[in-house]
Amino acid sequence: LPPTPYPNAPDLDFAIATKRSQATEALKTVHAQLGQRYNPIINGAAVDTEATADSVNPSKPAELVGKLGLASQEQADAAIAAAKAAFPAWAATTAKERGAILRRAADLMEERRHELNAWMVYEVGKPLGQADPEVSEAIDFCRYYADEMERLDAGYAYDYPGETNRYRYFPRGIAVVISPWNFPLAIATGMTVAALVTGNCTILKPAENSAVIAAKIAEILIEAGMPPGVFQYLPARGSTVGAHLVNHPDVHMIAFTGSREVGCRIYADAAQWRPGQRHLKRVIAEMGGKNGIIIDESADLDQAVQGVVYSAFGYSGQKCSACSRAIVVASVYDTFVHRLVEATCSLNVGEAVKPSTKVGPVIDANAQAKIKEYIEKGKAEATLALEMPTPADGYFVGPTVFTNVKPDAVIAQEEIFGPVLAVIKANDFDDALRIANDTDYGLTGGLYSRTPSHIERVQNEFAVGNLYINRGITGAIVSRQPFGGFKMSGVGSKAGGPDYLLQFLEPRHVSENV
Ligand code: SER
Repeated sequence: LPPTPYPNAPDLDFAIATKRSQATEALKTVHAQLGQRYNPIINGAAVDTEATADSVNPSKPAELVGKLGLASQEQADAAIAAAKAAFPAWAATTAKERGAILRRAADLMEERRHELNAWMVYEVGKPLGQADPEVSEAIDFCRYYADEMERLDAGYAYDYPGETNRYRYFPRGIAVVISPWNFPLAIATGMTVAALVTGNCTILKPAENSAVIAAKIAEILIEAGMPPGVFQYLPARGSTVGAHLVNHPDVHMIAFTGSREVGCRIYADAAQWRPGQRHLKRVIAEMGGKNGIIIDESADLDQAVQGVVYSAFGYSGQKCSACSRAIVVASVYDTFVHRLVEATCSLNVGEAVKPSTKVGPVIDANAQAKIKEYIEKGKAEATLALEMPTPADGYFVGPTVFTNVKPDAVIAQEEIFGPVLAVIKANDFDDALRIANDTDYGLTGGLYSRTPSHIERVQNEFAVGNLYINRGITGAIVSRQPFGGFKMSGVGSKAGGPDYLLQFLEPRHVSENV
């Protein structure tokens, strides 16, 4: 019998009128709460800060979503000291007790689903239909890692006559979680609860652009029962206080998701031994992608167009899993391009709060400027097939398609993290596969094909962490599609998979002569 599928939390069905009216209600309720202040939570108490930052609505930058109190270096030290003090008692709790807190957190997220969706609409410009699966993912992370920790907690027995051999897992100590804004709920929750359920005291330093949503995670974890010192919420500047946390000799591990540049810096900094440090640090780094989808001559082009459009322009292309290269064999190239451009034109670009919006804004003015620079580069090195118009206010970039892109063009090699798709022509399937692999990254990849030999070959030869055949390449589901890449995409850990928690644990072995 096949194994029973993991019972993932279902997304809301917005075709049901009551769900739509609850969503509208939540958008109103949350709107009335915009502009409040969120301070760091250290040792169970909110602390005031001198520095602040504004988190604004990227669809409407004049709208303040929240004022963040930014922790100073001294406050970061206080958080680490509190974590250190809390560690012995937390490490001594059972996996069941820790898992019970995660399961309560999952239930609270389920209760607050509409509200969490609304915060994502306002703070990171994610349209409702794309925000809601994130709540499901966050819930799944809590429940799945709770189960996983109980499984690992049993350890292994390699007993021999006259000798017991026990292999067990212990927490590492203090974990710093540095989370991104693009999956502000799911990824921040996933990394944080993985660190906590394995018995580590955890400091969450969220991206500034999504620190209000992280404050909601903090509220939920604390209400679910995370003790003071065990979990701490620390909005702060990454370049100074984030780096200070990474360098701190009392920190045992860093779980990071974000850019390649920052990930590489963390990896290097964490490798340095510092006075007072009695361990080597572990780094989990999930970084970027330059993900390609191959479309061969046997592909169902209706399916392929739909999958590429969603993978390239969903959440304005701001997913590490997004498709930024469509690699199309010559015999279907023209037909595919024509249909792709037509389909992309049908996407509504607008404020995330509007129900009709398919493509919302990008996260901030810097991102907008950087993506636009890439579009200018693209115009110089390829053919602009489509650049969609956008609303004037807000950080918008219209879905953009370039054709006749050379495989080594800048827009075909560098991660743009925006709604920009490079379409590359390949001579045949072999050429397409070679082009697909000719990148620094190895995160997601796809193939649209009805040729069994091609389907078989990509499974061995397409060097990506998550390969999707005849479907879109984003939206991995906890336990069903453990997610993460290798090469310059990261260290190979798979979030939502059976090996993930091992990275937060230290195995110990005890052999007893009996
Ligand atoms: N897990 C997300 C996806 O699969 C990316 O982080 O799209």
